[in-house]
Amino acid sequence: MTNTSPHQAAPALELSRVVKSFGAVVALRSGSIRLEKGSIHALIGENGAGKSTMVKIIAGLYRRDAGEFRLDGEPVDFTSTAQSKAAGIAVIYQEPTLFPDLSVTENIFMGRQPTNRVGRIDRKAMRTEATEIFERLGVRIDPDRLTEGLSIADQQIIEIAKAISLDARVLIMDEPTAALSGVEVERLFAVARSLRDEGRALVFISHRFDEVFDLCDTVTVMRDGAYVDTMSIDETTVDELVRQMVGRDVTELFPKMPTEIGEDVLVVEGLTQKGVFHDISFTVRSGEIVGLAGLVGAGRSEVARAVFGVDPYESGSVTIEGAPLAKNNPRRAMAQGIALVPEDRRKQGLVLDQSVTRNITLAIRSRLAKWGLIWGGLENAAAQTWASRLEVKTAALDAETGTLSGGNQQKVVLGKWLATHPKVLIVDEPTRGIDVGTKSEVHRLISQLAGDGMAILMISSELPEVLGMADRVLVMREGHLTGEFERSEATPENVMYAATAEEEAVR
Ligand SMILES: Nc1ncnc2c1ncn2[C@@H]1O[C@H](COP(=O)(O)OP(=O)(O)OP(=O)(O)O)[C@@H](O)[C@H]1O
Ligand SMILES: [Mg+2]
Repeated sequence: MTNTSPHQAAPALELSRVVKSFGAVVALRSGSIRLEKGSIHALIGENGAGKSTMVKIIAGLYRRDAGEFRLDGEPVDFTSTAQSKAAGIAVIYQEPTLFPDLSVTENIFMGRQPTNRVGRIDRKAMRTEATEIFERLGVRIDPDRLTEGLSIADQQIIEIAKAISLDARVLIMDEPTAALSGVEVERLFAVARSLRDEGRALVFISHRFDEVFDLCDTVTVMRDGAYVDTMSIDETTVDELVRQMVGRDVTELFPKMPTEIGEDVLVVEGLTQKGVFHDISFTVRSGEIVGLAGLVGAGRSEVARAVFGVDPYESGSVTIEGAPLAKNNPRRAMAQGIALVPEDRRKQGLVLDQSVTRNITLAIRSRLAKWGLIWGGLENAAAQTWASRLEVKTAALDAETGTLSGGNQQKVVLGKWLATHPKVLIVDEPTRGIDVGTKSEVHRLISQLAGDGMAILMISSELPEVLGMADRVLVMREGHLTGEFERSEATPENVMYAATAEEEAVR
């Protein structure tokens, strides 16, 4: 169902057989896409397939080595992002690009502030427009506050507001929904649809097939830096897309392996931080995977961060194998056998200008040291093991981690924490941004670790992931634990009810 007539003139934007290399790494071998006006075009492919590279060429951030790039049929060659903006192209990047010490409004109008009659920056006009956009998006964010400290979801919304304020004819969204809750996704989609109906061309990159089928009219698949196929969304299926992306059949969810469940390892009692979470009590036993479900914003990550010691808590206790866990001290908590794979991996997990090897071994360096020296052989071996178990796609393990694709960077963070082999592993959205082929690999790994006796707490907003993996499911809503279900009673209805029901009494 597109609003495009077949007789319409040139497409809004067209890339044809575009090539881009970084030194010896060919990021894009032959990238092609054809964007029609009044249409939402999905761009899909595995982690490292070249999607973001193509986006960055369109945005003028990278210059292509070869191939054609046309706007409304006319050849173009952007050498800066300012040129692509001026041509009416707005991009929401996979990694937020906001300046933390500027206000929300200043970020939205970065580099093109409206001026008043006497040529001064018109703050009032900026503020009014920002407020209007937030209203359209149905969100409440104070336009005057600093961007610093905003949740990832809010940062993403500001990126979206930035793109909308450009009044672009081409809008590209590189995994915009990764950190959004269901309601926020719906709002974003409503805005995307209205932009489409105004005749603009949109690109939507996502690893979530339900979203692709819900929102998009057309889909282009990429594999290994090259164009595979373009189809109308009505004429394809998830299975077909997966086959084209991966080149083989895969199952998205790895069936949970039976494990032997032992004694309590992690015991959390009455954990409270006023206004954030209240009276949270639960246990995780050895060999057990406990899923922590709930809507984005329910306080799940906050609880995880408090348990691990990144954030404080006012009252309550946390013990590991009966011993009190260090409070407010992640380093000591780690030494006591707990690890947290954070949700905001780019900020909390990686040193981007350091090698993949260095990042994977970051948390186990003291173990690799002999007489105060890190033994390179051990370091490389550890990095090699985890990079291959997680199928990290990189030209070399000594490459800078910042050059890896978004999904591959996430695998590195995962590897870093798995390498510590903790007694208790907390993973926050372990497969967010990870492609369909690797997702089941990550599930298999988590399941194996539980099989080895690890106690695992898995936070996930993807219900099938929680229901598929967990022995027991906890549900949080608005800072409270509102449900606990054994695997056999954890139905989608039960979990969703506990996550959303207004009237349900907090026990
Ligand atoms: N600046 C760079 N230097 C070196 N290699 C790069 C650079 N940027 C991208 N690459 C490489 O190009 C390939 C394609 O990366 P890209 O980010 O386009 O993938 P993607 O399809 O967006 O993946 P994801 O789904 O993980 O976001 C990757 O192998 C990546 O390592
Ligand atoms: Mg990408």
